[in-house]
Amino acid sequence: MVLLITGGCGFLGTNLARRAIATGHRVIAFDNLRRVGAMENLRWLRAQGDANFVHGDISNAEEVARAVEEAEPDAVFHVAGQVAMTTSVVNPRRDFEINALGALNLLEAIRRMRPDAPVLYASTNKVYGDLSQYTYHETSTRYKCAEKPNGFDEDTPLQFQSPYGCSKGAADQYFLEYGRTYGLPVVVLRHSSIYGERQFSTVDQGWIGWFCQKALEAKVDPTSVFTISGDGKQVRDALHIDDAVSLYFAALDRMSTVRGSAFNIGGGPSNSLSLLELFALLERQTGAHLQYQRLPWRQSDQRVFVADIRKAHRMLGWRPEISADEGVRRMLQWTAALASVSEPVARRRG
Ligand SMILES: NC(=O)c1ccc[n+]([C@@H]2O[C@H](COP(=O)([O-])OP(=O)(O)OC[C@H]3O[C@@H](n4cnc5c(N)ncnc54)[C@H](O)[C@@H]3O)[C@@H](O)[C@H]2O)c1
Repeated sequence: MVLLITGGCGFLGTNLARRAIATGHRVIAFDNLRRVGAMENLRWLRAQGDANFVHGDISNAEEVARAVEEAEPDAVFHVAGQVAMTTSVVNPRRDFEINALGALNLLEAIRRMRPDAPVLYASTNKVYGDLSQYTYHETSTRYKCAEKPNGFDEDTPLQFQSPYGCSKGAADQYFLEYGRTYGLPVVVLRHSSIYGERQFSTVDQGWIGWFCQKALEAKVDPTSVFTISGDGKQVRDALHIDDAVSLYFAALDRMSTVRGSAFNIGGGPSNSLSLLELFALLERQTGAHLQYQRLPWRQSDQRVFVADIRKAHRMLGWRPEISADEGVRRMLQWTAALASVSEPVARRRG
């Protein structure tokens, strides 16, 4: 199979490419290498085997069309994107061009040239807005959503907030619409937090990796203090990258039955963590004492997002295998290895 991966040098893209190469597929990674760490990922990917790289910008319709024409893909994973809500607020036009227009460019190219190729899109839980219509209870370490003990399912009303929510949400809906109107075999995967190896976390995106860096810094310098947005009781379900990759291939395998569907994807209720709970876990695993200062909440931040993954389990036969405990341990190892070969982690920014 020839697999075109947009954003193929990013965190998710590189890991998808690695699995595809290992299982005998030919990979074409399309990326503009703008993300911090993308060059390192490309070098690493080339060392894994048969990965072809195309330098291009997803917001440029001609470059996208040429990539599809030349690759003649049997399947496409669309994971290129502007990934930070904060960046979208600073430059909403560029965020729109990459996330919304970029998705349309890709869908149009596929509609014209490869209409039978399955296309999977990495959407986001942010399509549901801040979820302020629900009731939250507060414990000493976290918020809990009273109405959604199993997490938020796909019937949760869409509510696009922040430029990032709008651009990702528009793309999410275009994918589903291209399934309905043009019959493309599409699947939309609405992710909450993914973390793991080959992720170059920044203060704006990749919170588990970012706080792993802070824990390792605190171990070296016990006086170090970092900042958090909000009160630390906000909850996300954490999904390790190996489980995320398995999901994409499970969806490809079952494309004939799941085409046209959207799935909420995360580690689920048993792998949910608040920031405060992550800090406790990091203190246990590193022996460091973490000190932080609070900043105001981020725009449209959800008190709780935990994905109800029962639809994904039912229709894809998929469920996460790697616990948050084990995943964070691996993330600390990756972060430590990264810090030892690159510039001091505290200075890195996306
Ligand atoms: N990682 C998460 O926790 C998470 C959560 C929800 C949704 N997602 C979505 O999953 C997708 C992948 O996320 P990730 O964590 O791998 O991000 P990432 O930033 O590591 O990877 C994105 C890749 O896209 C590339 N890219 C950015 N703009 C581009 C452009 N204009 N043209 C071509 N390539 C471009 C970047 O260079 C990068 O290599 C994104 O669409 C993101 O919105 C990720």
